[in-house]
Order: sequence, then C-alpha cells, then structure tokens
Amino acid sequence: MAAARPREIVHENTDALVRAIAEKIWALPQSVTSRPVNIALAGGSTPKCLYEELAKPPKPVDWSRFEFFFGDERSVPPEHPDSNFGMARDALLAKTGAKAHRMAAEKGEAEAYAKLLGERIGEKRGGLPVFDLVLLGVGNDGHTASLFPGTAALDEAAKTVVMNDVPQLETRRMTLTYPALNAAARVWFLITGEGKREIIARCRAGLDDESAKRTYPMLGVRPAQGELVWWLDKAASGKAK
Ligand code: 6PG
Repeated sequence: MAAARPREIVHENTDALVRAIAEKIWALPQSVTSRPVNIALAGGSTPKCLYEELAKPPKPVDWSRFEFFFGDERSVPPEHPDSNFGMARDALLAKTGAKAHRMAAEKGEAEAYAKLLGERIGEKRGGLPVFDLVLLGVGNDGHTASLFPGTAALDEAAKTVVMNDVPQLETRRMTLTYPALNAAARVWFLITGEGKREIIARCRAGLDDESAKRTYPMLGVRPAQGELVWWLDKAASGKAK
C-alpha cells in the first residue's frame, strides 16, 4: 500500500498558522469523547509559539480532557535550558495544569516510558499505542523527533521508545520510534520560517522514494491509517508570495 502522502496546509504567517492549529487542538475533545485526548508534544524551538497560543484559549478549556506526552527528549534534567519538557512546561503545561508525562532521557528510562505509553494509551493498533495526535518538527537535516540520519533508531521496527545515540550531536536522546509515530491517528508537522524552505523542498522531492527516509528521516513518518499534515507558513512552504 502506498505510504500516506502529507496534506500541506499553508498559512500566511506563523501567528495565523499556530492559531489555526490551536483551534483544532482545542476542538479535539469533541471527537475523542470517552477519555482524555492523548497528544505527543514536539520539542525544539518551533512549537513554543504554538504551546503559548494553546495556553490562552478564547474561552475556558477543560484541560483534564487532555493528556500530554513527548515525542523526544534530550539527555538533560527538566530545569536544563535544552529540555523539551522544560520548554513545554513553561509555555503550556504550568499554565494549564494539564497532565503530562516527562521522558526521563537523562536516566535512559526508555523502557519505562514505553510501559507508561502502553498503560496510559488504551487504544492500540497491532499492539501499539495510538496517539490521538503527534506533533513534530523537522530539522535542517531532515530529522524529526530524535530520529536523525544514520542513527540506529531508524531501524527500530518493534519498540515504541528507544534511547538513540546521535554522534552528530555527540549525545544520546530518547525518542518515539517509527512504529509509535506511524500508529498515530493524526501526525502534524509544524514547520515555519525561511530556514526550513530548503529541507521541505528536498523532502517533497523524496516523498515517493522509499529510501529517502534514510537521508531525511521525517519522510519515514507515514501513518498507516492516520492523518498526515504538514502545517507550514508561507516562508517555509516556498509558495509564491
Ligand atoms: C528536538 C526536536 C526536534 C525538532 C527539530 C526542529 O528535540 O530538537 O524534537 O526534532 O523538532 O530539531 O527544531 P526547531 O524547531 O528548533 O527548528
């Protein structure tokens, strides 16, 4: 079966983009009614503005209807400036009191996080936990989460969470794997700014090349049955002004 092709949604600027995404996230409990909405948050710098937007809804949000997880984490404690959890805590989680589960990457506890996912996410597909939504970014080398080119995690075909040595950064990270990402009901990439235009153009060109995900790992995120959206601002999309 052909891999899922992304739907590209382009907005004029980053503010309009994050507002559109936030409105869809605030509305998710309308379609996930029997339990909290399970969302895996992206790290890096791009999503911070989305999390800040999410934290100021136009009308009250019942944050008990959401449960947050992470797509990846650096091997640092939460108070470290590089912590993805720390960024999301300051931008969103501390403002909403929403339930969230940190990846203890600095302790290497990947198996414990995989166990947590199995326990907290009731919906399964082929034994894999089904996130209602996974938010992801993309690096200029085409990595996503902590699935970097040439790293071992790209070959993980069974586990949902692994520690991944990233020699290009001289570090080890915890990351969701392709099995976990591709089981999701929705995968949304948030890609903004002129600096991402080149990598997005390269990734578009590689969409039909099965081997391209080795070079640009974000291309390996092709949910089997879920929705795949690349949310872009015009600057990143390369669309005519
Ligand atoms: C991380 C992220 C990573 C990120 C990209 C893009 O831990 O760094 O999970 O995959 O999405 O590196 O980062 P920026 O948003 O900072 O460009």
